[in-house]
Amino acid sequence: MSSTLLTGLAELITNDPGMGDGGPLGLVSDGALVLEEEVVCWVGEAGAAPAADARVAFDGRVALPGFVDSHSHLVFAGDRSCEFAARMSGQTYSAGGIAATVAATRAASDAQLRAGAGRLAAEMLRQGTTTVEIKSGYGLTVADELRSLRVAADLTAETTWLGAHVVPPEYAGRRSAYLDLLLGPMVTACAPHARWVDVFCDRGAFDADETRAVLAAGMARGLVPRLHANQLEQGPGVQIAVEVDAASVDHCTYLSQADVAALAGSNTVATLLPGAEFSTRSPYLDARRLLAAGVTVAVATDCNPGSSYTSSMPFCVALAVRDMQLTPAEALWAATAGGAKALRRSDIGVLKVGSHANVAVLDAPSYVHLAYRPGVPLVHAVWQRGRQVV
Ligand code: NIG
Ligand code: FE
Repeated sequence: MSSTLLTGLAELITNDPGMGDGGPLGLVSDGALVLEEEVVCWVGEAGAAPAADARVAFDGRVALPGFVDSHSHLVFAGDRSCEFAARMSGQTYSAGGIAATVAATRAASDAQLRAGAGRLAAEMLRQGTTTVEIKSGYGLTVADELRSLRVAADLTAETTWLGAHVVPPEYAGRRSAYLDLLLGPMVTACAPHARWVDVFCDRGAFDADETRAVLAAGMARGLVPRLHANQLEQGPGVQIAVEVDAASVDHCTYLSQADVAALAGSNTVATLLPGAEFSTRSPYLDARRLLAAGVTVAVATDCNPGSSYTSSMPFCVALAVRDMQLTPAEALWAATAGGAKALRRSDIGVLKVGSHANVAVLDAPSYVHLAYRPGVPLVHAVWQRGRQVV
């Protein structure tokens, strides 16, 4: 067994309230931690650290649990920069643009899809993301959804079947035939390759009954539900997510008070995707409404070519602070421990004995710099399952 001591940390964020300052971030000043093989085996103050086989001194930097990006769409081909430029000159975002990516994805080879997703996953790692959830949803045929999930599974254990992203163009005017495909051959083929089932429940995508049916089909095959909802308007999605005990309901751009109350009494995380508001010029949710009600909040990138083409969790933390009214501490928690809760994982998003040795080290004296210095590449080093990857 080989061990590595990371020391000289001005701030060590553990997300363990039993540590350090006793707050939600469990911030240890002048901290250190020891990684052994794939897990954390010691956490505390540098002065009390045990000896290890190797020692890395960080000279006053910050260490935190690697970011948990609990919502992304990395398997696709093509480019929609023209659509983005059109939006920035006044056009509004609609679910319709997804069809352009579906056409490009179907036309791409397996190797092209693998290369594209791999490039984005590597980009994420360089920005401190050590766990990413990846959805299908740009194939929308049995074969193309299946190969999308295979590409995703090479990059993460957190794979999501999103066959119910939109009704593809060849089924225009024949929604019920696409529903038959989803509820029959597609779920049967895809379920063995996914952990999660997701539906885009919104204007221009799927309605309440369709959403319930697709979630039920996935759940009957052992998939755990999560949902895209309330991105384009207030709709039934949040209530459905709570009703099926979804791990997370994502976007939440337009929330009624009843939605907030339903989330507050539930086990469902509200995942905010501020990159989507940024890139679609949509209003930012005041996340204080959620926190005041006691809702668990996560922040993720939604990395996709249409509504949020960023792979950067630090950028999303900065937006969540600046525009969604989270404090820097709340946004950092949401991007690490919150993401872990949105994936129902207790072994990531936290640095305590036994957790995955996933660590991001920032070239900054305080975690506040994540929001205070937006757009600056602050990530200095990254360990993923005990291996230094950056
Ligand atoms: O999460 N909202 C639905 N799906 C993606 C966007 C997909 C696209 O525009 O290509 C999202 O924002
Ligand atoms: Fe999404």
